[in-house]
Amino acid sequence: MNLQVNGQTMALDPAKVPAEMPLLWVLRDELSLTGTKFGCGVAACGACTVQVDGQALRACVTPVGAVAGKSVRTIEALGAPDRPHALQTAWIQHQVPQCGYCQSGMLMAADALLRKTPNPTDAQIDAAITNLCRCGTYPRVRAAIHTAAKALRGGAA
Ligand code: FES
Ligand code: FES
Repeated sequence: MNLQVNGQTMALDPAKVPAEMPLLWVLRDELSLTGTKFGCGVAACGACTVQVDGQALRACVTPVGAVAGKSVRTIEALGAPDRPHALQTAWIQHQVPQCGYCQSGMLMAADALLRKTPNPTDAQIDAAITNLCRCGTYPRVRAAIHTAAKALRGGAA
């Protein structure tokens, strides 16, 4: 099976990777893309959020066979240390993370939201970002999304 991940085609050995294996397992254990986290394993927390064809999706409950031929994007492709994404810049500006465990999923959900909705309201942010944060960073996540949205629309951050 071939998987498109972060713009690259990855060949997966079917002997090691059955189609029903969760995408999260494949990303972390087979492709060493460990930025995507395991939290609950039952689609409740969002720590495992990646994008598939631009949509935020919980990788812990998604069989890898279901995304063959689709474009998977993980946190590793959201900017780079010398070229951070506007969301990452805003996350730093607002000092969003506490323990950080939920944050890669938060960022991938936020990016999926801003691609569809460049100027979201608080209600749209709350509806789209269903990720859980046990450190309670929700107000800062929301503020940082507004800052990044403004920057991406061409306004000053
Ligand atoms: S680990 Fe996937 S939703 Fe919690
Ligand atoms: S920053 Fe700790 S769980 Fe969200």
